[in-house]
Amino acid sequence: MFYEPSKGDHGLGRDPFKALLVPRPIGWVTTMNGAGRVNLAPFSFFNAVAEQPAMIMYTCGGRKPDRGTKDSLANAREHGEFVWNLATWDLREKMNATASTLPAEIDEMAHAGLTVAPSRLVKPPRVAESPVQFECKVWQVLDLPGSDQHGPNGMVIGFVVGVHLRDDLIVDGRVKIQNARPIARLGYSEYTVIENAFRMPFPD
Ligand SMILES: Cc1cc2nc3c(=O)[nH]c(=O)nc-3n(C[C@H](O)[C@H](O)[C@H](O)COP(=O)(O)O)c2cc1C
Repeated sequence: MFYEPSKGDHGLGRDPFKALLVPRPIGWVTTMNGAGRVNLAPFSFFNAVAEQPAMIMYTCGGRKPDRGTKDSLANAREHGEFVWNLATWDLREKMNATASTLPAEIDEMAHAGLTVAPSRLVKPPRVAESPVQFECKVWQVLDLPGSDQHGPNGMVIGFVVGVHLRDDLIVDGRVKIQNARPIARLGYSEYTVIENAFRMPFPD
């Protein structure tokens, strides 16, 4: 089949776009508002974008009925900092709980039963239960094209200024990330879990 996303002429019950580009790592992002309230939410439009300097990004799409854009976008734009926490198989239900739309005054970490760990270089805290966290400073927020139906899209791009890594994930001097069992997004309500890896050296 062939379809044009802007026309939506795929003929399927649901748009297959997100089911095709997989797996997408989960940007489980902590931000903080001006009053010091912590916000935590998952984003699958998330990835590393550069290595030197280390940079990552996440995109928030859509409107919130009461607040305009999503808190993770507004907080990053206004306060310039965020933390990425690795979502794992053990944390899957808690990660999912942090996607619910809650009133601004509810602490999403407490709601999900997660423990706050202070960061070293930025104000937003880390998820203590997560085995890897990146402390980040915003480089730029890009206002991407949006749609009348779904609202605006804002891409937050940041420098990774600090990395926390649970020591037991280091085996023989290399990170064995499979041991953390990271989860990643497929389409619809589906996820995958990374439990194995294969090696293929660069060609000469
Ligand atoms: C696994 C997962 C991935 C998600 N990815 C995105 C995404 O890439 N962009 C987005 O805007 N919302 C995404 N969402 C929905 C947000 O997490 C949800 O709207 C959340 O309430 C936003 O919270 P905030 O307003 O506190 O920032 C995702 C939800 C889940 C469960």
